[in-house]
Amino acid sequence: MRSVWIPRTGPPEVLEIREGPYPEPAPGEVLVRVRASGVNFADVMARLGLYPDAPRRPCVVGYEVAGTVERVGTGVDGQLTTGRRVIALTRFGGYAEAVSVPALQVFPLPEKMSFTEGAAIPVNYLTAVLMLRHFGNVHAGDRVLVHAAAGGVGMAAIQLCRIAGAEVIGTASAAKHALLREAGVAHAIDYRTEDFEAAVRRLTGGRGVDIVLDATGAFRKSYRCLAPLGRLVCFGLSGAATGMKASYLRTLPRLLALPWFHPIRLMNDNKAVIGVNLGHLWERIDLLRREMLDLLVDYEAGRIRPVVGKTFPLTQAAAAHRYIQERQNVGKVVLTVG
Ligand SMILES: NC(=O)c1ccc[n+]([C@@H]2O[C@H](COP(=O)([O-])OP(=O)(O)OC[C@H]3O[C@@H](n4cnc5c(N)ncnc54)[C@H](OP(=O)(O)O)[C@@H]3O)[C@@H](O)[C@H]2O)c1
Repeated sequence: MRSVWIPRTGPPEVLEIREGPYPEPAPGEVLVRVRASGVNFADVMARLGLYPDAPRRPCVVGYEVAGTVERVGTGVDGQLTTGRRVIALTRFGGYAEAVSVPALQVFPLPEKMSFTEGAAIPVNYLTAVLMLRHFGNVHAGDRVLVHAAAGGVGMAAIQLCRIAGAEVIGTASAAKHALLREAGVAHAIDYRTEDFEAAVRRLTGGRGVDIVLDATGAFRKSYRCLAPLGRLVCFGLSGAATGMKASYLRTLPRLLALPWFHPIRLMNDNKAVIGVNLGHLWERIDLLRREMLDLLVDYEAGRIRPVVGKTFPLTQAAAAHRYIQERQNVGKVVLTVG
């Protein structure tokens, strides 16, 4: 079978297609024949050497797939039979024609859901659920600032805000603003040419927002955008990706400029700073399972609809990485097989 490897750090074209044997499902595991594999910004960071959670290179990344059950290991319950359409959280190894995963990380793919939609759900929506529902306590009437709102997580967050009755202010490159408005965003800000803090002040009459979701790394400014009792959720550092190749010289100053939030200041400001990393919640697969099953119910009821911006064949994973880094994507980018 073929898989896409990161042999060393570098531009998208370092990604390499290699042939290898099909994995064997260990006891308790399910071998999934992959039909679609979700691409995440974390994969780009892994290729750049800026993602400490990535496996040691050479490695195959990929956090999520949709496909069919090819074989099951011993001890797997009877629901996951050969040929069953499934979604799986893979936590690496997803950029491949097949991957073996613990059965607890496998979910039935709803009948109406395509493989590409299935691969667009787990990481984006689980992250948005953790940020908005578990930590953010989002409610009707809240105002939420979503950075990179037109991206994979951003689009998922917009939909969860809509379900809650919260208003979204979204930041994104200007070309994506019309699509953001179609998705239900009340105000779009071009954060590359406009001071988003000033825009938020203007749009909220000086009050600020109740929640900010920030994976760009503009945490200091995002904090200042909060109204009293506001929550800033820090969940990434896309600003550290400064080019197609890693440049520690350009990245280091950004890391050193990250703010420290002092508890006394947080008390006096009545604000919260929260960190989320889905990849560090694997030991809570019980919680992730529950949330995934609820998300699939939301999908069946028409409350959420993954936005798949573009698909690329698995063998063109490099083009997919380049597309994301050139900021062309709206919604999720998915690799397809077969
Ligand atoms: N902590 C967690 O558990 C977790 C889970 C999932 C994702 N994340 C983080 O959340 C963020 C979004 O992830 P995603 O997979 O949904 O990706 P994404 O938002 O689809 O990423 C691509 C978009 O990010 C924006 N962007 C901002 N800074 C960029 C940069 N330096 N280079 C290229 N694009 C940049 C661009 O949109 P514009 O055109 O609007 O600039 C681009 O189109 C990433 O930072 C990711 O690491 C964290």
